[in-house]
Amino acid sequence: MSGDPIRSAWHAVARAEDVASTGAPTPVTVLDTPLVAYRDGGGAAVMLPAACPHRGTDLGLGSVDGGCIRCPYHGWQFGASGRCTRIPSLGADLRIPDGAHAHAANARERDALLWVSLDPAADPSAIPSFPVAGAVAGMRLIAGEPLRWRTTPGRHVENILDLAHFPFVHPATFGCPEAEAVEPHEVTVAPGRFDCHVGVNTRNPDTPTGPLYPALGPIIRLGYHYTVQLPYRTTLEFSFPDGMRRALHEVATPTEDGECEIFWALLVDERLDSPDEDELAFANAVFAEDQPIIESQPGGVRIDRAAEVHVPADRLAVAYRRAMREWGVAADARV
Ligand code: FES
Ligand code: CO
Repeated sequence: MSGDPIRSAWHAVARAEDVASTGAPTPVTVLDTPLVAYRDGGGAAVMLPAACPHRGTDLGLGSVDGGCIRCPYHGWQFGASGRCTRIPSLGADLRIPDGAHAHAANARERDALLWVSLDPAADPSAIPSFPVAGAVAGMRLIAGEPLRWRTTPGRHVENILDLAHFPFVHPATFGCPEAEAVEPHEVTVAPGRFDCHVGVNTRNPDTPTGPLYPALGPIIRLGYHYTVQLPYRTTLEFSFPDGMRRALHEVATPTEDGECEIFWALLVDERLDSPDEDELAFANAVFAEDQPIIESQPGGVRIDRAAEVHVPADRLAVAYRRAMREWGVAADARV
């Protein structure tokens, strides 16, 4: 890997279901780079720079038909790999100039998401896996609507990793005073990733029909297992005292102006019969509690070891920053 590993990394930019071979193209922006996505005649997802090679018009205003995207200005059409296939003003003269072809970005469809790397040489085997229905035995998949937050993906990741905010930010959902003191925990590091097990006290969540776990008391202790794959892919698996499991899978993508889009899904133990809507509503309520807090922070996590002040409860954030430095992100970067 050369240069900035975040530019070379694979970023999730759209749900596969949102990209079509007819109708409107799907505009996406990653790392302040505007792109459009569509499907070619074979159904393969294509991502092109949003600026038309002719005069720079936004192809996101165009339309997709028969596996080609058509520019809204002069009707040039681009098909598989961004090849220009038609210039209407040429009439019967079909000689398309070399410069008319668009240069497709390095994009792949994987696990029901579209991924892109701004490095043309990036290896698709490095695309992080993401859960799809039926992929994990005994767990049902509930996909959430992508979220857009006015913060960087690094701030979002650190919020997921933050163990000390539950009593203060989440008293209405799962936080409780019994979680104020953070249990000691160790982080296990491997190149480009790390994980951590820690116990967390939590309120037995309320549901319209009473506590979520009627057999357990008002305060329960959950096992949290974090897995982070750099730069922005997180998994948080929860084990409940009665053996039930849930997991929150997320991947956050830097879009533009220091903002991010978050693709997420829940895996819920099949033995739990909670309706999908309730699971999504609970997760969205938790996100809504976090969002204004995180959006209030100054833009971007500084990964420099001297930045900000840390206490033992911040061990996961410290590990994240160190892992990013060791992975090759510049020490003065904000992520
Ligand atoms: Fe796109 Fe002319 S600007 S076809
Ligand atoms: Co939170």
